[in-house]
Amino acid sequence: MYIFNVSSVWEKIDQVQNSCEDAFRLKSAVLVPEDPVRDIDLLHPKLHPPKKGFSTPEGQARMLHDLASIELQAMELGVRTLVEFPEAPQAFKEELAAITLSESQHLRMCLEGLVDLGFQWGAWPVHSALWRAASIEDSLLDRILIVHRYLEGSGLDAGDTLIRRLEGTTGKAGIQKIVKQINFEEIGHVNFGSEWYREICRLEKIDHHEDFISRMNSLRDRLPKRVEPVNRDLRSRAGFTEAEIDYHENLRLDFLKPKK
Ligand SMILES: [Fe+2]
Ligand SMILES: [Fe+2]
Repeated sequence: MYIFNVSSVWEKIDQVQNSCEDAFRLKSAVLVPEDPVRDIDLLHPKLHPPKKGFSTPEGQARMLHDLASIELQAMELGVRTLVEFPEAPQAFKEELAAITLSESQHLRMCLEGLVDLGFQWGAWPVHSALWRAASIEDSLLDRILIVHRYLEGSGLDAGDTLIRRLEGTTGKAGIQKIVKQINFEEIGHVNFGSEWYREICRLEKIDHHEDFISRMNSLRDRLPKRVEPVNRDLRSRAGFTEAEIDYHENLRLDFLKPKK
């Protein structure tokens, strides 16, 4: 599919903004690469340079750069789900295309914010951990749970922490505006995942309460570890039940335990 093999981040944005709906009209399988092509260094997170605090312009720019990389992967994952699940319900595909467009707008905001701070895309390396959390083996329920409920749900928790950290400092009005708008809109993205997860369970005659626990248990070992405190209020607004939030809190505690 086009955007996976185009390297320019701006060209990827243009393609999504001009023709994202083409992705769900595709009738034949599209080769999805192990990693989407990048126009900057793609490195394992362990090899990235250390981060600086938000009191420096460099620390602020680095945060926006990391956020841009997350939005880029979210945009590409949206297209990937559209091309890998042509049999998904039409309404699901239309809503996902709208979300993918929203991710492209988030990405553009981050890149423009970066330039406002005097930095460029590529000032630091990026990783592809979110993209790699998805697999060709995924069912549609797996994919919804991984991308929209686990990854994007964790993003809500992290975004809220980020907003509070930025509020404690001055002179960052532009960044605060970007992060707040993104986090607000992400509630809708996660809620899309919550609602469609239950709807697909209903269509497949599966009990979503039981399925959530068993599916998360089977997927958890291959998910990127997220240790941000779970924000119960945001999770609840994004369609998580109390039991699902409890599950995520326990999962986080497991991730925090030292490895034996
Ligand atoms: Fe986003
Ligand atoms: Fe999102």
